[in-house]
Amino acid sequence: MSDWYKDAIIYQLHVRAFRDSDGSGTGDFRGMLEKLDYIQELGVNCLWLMPFYPSPLKDDGYDISDYCAVHPDYGTLGDFQEFLNEAHRRGMRVITELVLNHTSDQHPWFRDSRQSPESSCRDWYVWSTTHNRYRQARVIFLDTEVSNWTWDPAADAYYWHRFFSHQPDLNYDNPSVQEAILDVARFWLDRGVDGLRLDAVPYLFEREGTSCENLPETHAFVRRLRRFMDERYGDRMLLAEANQRPEDLCAYFGEGDEFHAAFHFTLMPRMFMAIRREDRQPIVDAVIQTPQAPSTCQWVIFLRNHDELTLEMVTEEERAYMQAEYAREPRMRLHLGIRRRLAPLLDNSRRRIEVLNSLLLSLPGTPSIYYGDEIGMGDNFYLGDRLGVRTPMQWNSDRNAGFSSANRQQLFLPVVVDPEFHYEAVNVEAQQRNPASLLNWMRRVIGIRQRFPVLGRGAVEFLEPANLKVLAYLRTDPETTILCVVNLSRYAQPCELDLRRFSGRKPVELFGNTMFPPIGELPYFLTLGPHSFYWFRLSGP
Ligand code: NOJ
Repeated sequence: MSDWYKDAIIYQLHVRAFRDSDGSGTGDFRGMLEKLDYIQELGVNCLWLMPFYPSPLKDDGYDISDYCAVHPDYGTLGDFQEFLNEAHRRGMRVITELVLNHTSDQHPWFRDSRQSPESSCRDWYVWSTTHNRYRQARVIFLDTEVSNWTWDPAADAYYWHRFFSHQPDLNYDNPSVQEAILDVARFWLDRGVDGLRLDAVPYLFEREGTSCENLPETHAFVRRLRRFMDERYGDRMLLAEANQRPEDLCAYFGEGDEFHAAFHFTLMPRMFMAIRREDRQPIVDAVIQTPQAPSTCQWVIFLRNHDELTLEMVTEEERAYMQAEYAREPRMRLHLGIRRRLAPLLDNSRRRIEVLNSLLLSLPGTPSIYYGDEIGMGDNFYLGDRLGVRTPMQWNSDRNAGFSSANRQQLFLPVVVDPEFHYEAVNVEAQQRNPASLLNWMRRVIGIRQRFPVLGRGAVEFLEPANLKVLAYLRTDPETTILCVVNLSRYAQPCELDLRRFSGRKPVELFGNTMFPPIGELPYFLTLGPHSFYWFRLSGP
């Protein structure tokens, strides 16, 4: 189906951190192949792989030095192909990364570019004799960068970079750059990847007197890439990583002729706010204020990913609140966000983890689950940058959490040994054995989500019970109506729902298939335990 991404449940993972098949201390494609059974049993149907290309790994692979190859630590192109084919055989799609705004400073293009003004790739990057241009562009990596310009003694000029100084921005005003990036897209699409996540989309072009974000030229290039994809490849998907306000973000759908999907960066922090404040309003506002996407487009929603929990798109007051509540220790903060995983953010409360996952899987959009969060993995914010949320997947209680047979000291990152989240307790094998584990709960809830496409495609309508600690919404399409009721509070709550228009229908609770009393003319009364939720199908009259 051409809009398959509306029914997708995405599982985001890092080859480097998932499973090491050869005892090198680093994950690889053969290791991922071994673990496809696990992923399939989890019930997700789409994998998003973080960058696995040759790279000095100073930004964990988002600093690419060769776009059309596999990092030797992770295997070969053949291994990648085998993995992709096997994922496809199992009915799973695979999304890879197109990091198109910048390269590593080790990329041959940049090495050539910096050599002399006559170099053939000189104009592939943005050079300047002064650092005074484009002053209205903000610095994104606030904790490490002081400017978007860095002096290069070899080139005798400054080069432009929106992220780390070792990641020079490509110059999209140069037609050769545009062609080269289309070639990269072609390379991976020819291999059969189902979608491309475009990293750092808003920053492709620079124009004096602007913020250098979301410029019309950037949209024009996205349309070009989309046309190229549609003409040659049919049902592939373009996914936007644009950390922007909803209206700017929505512009990336164009008129259905730019991105198919985009991450929803403003809903994410509001889910965390709502559960902390025990107040539904942040979620209701975020959803209601989301502009309507063209009918072929879809939001991708998420709780956590490989980056810090970004707070760029909230007000200063909201940011202060989030930091006070979720990042008490300064070390937990990075740039404007919080570098923690889901379970530690939620004080490892099973109820809260379930409630937030229920939102992830039932609010409008395609959910994206970050590897390890399905077992409640912990983090390690003593590691630098965002590495603390990218530690090895915890498979069992053996050495290195079953991730690798290497010498412990050889691991690309240490496994989590924090007493509360120690891999000996928090691991896949232990949770597979325990029917009541988070992993088994996640499988169940994902299974329910898969049974009801309305949760991916349907309309949303919020109900307005007087109790503001209760969030209630309907997900509907012409055939199905699902009622979701969520208690955001840590105490039991009553609520009365106006369901008169469904009078005569019977709510069926989806986990137990339990019939509840029929809906009548009076307010429908429910009680909810602390941090709990119901999903009901409203059975036909
Ligand atoms: C966005 C990625 O998600 C992040 O991890 C990376 O550091 C920046 N882009 C720069 O590539």
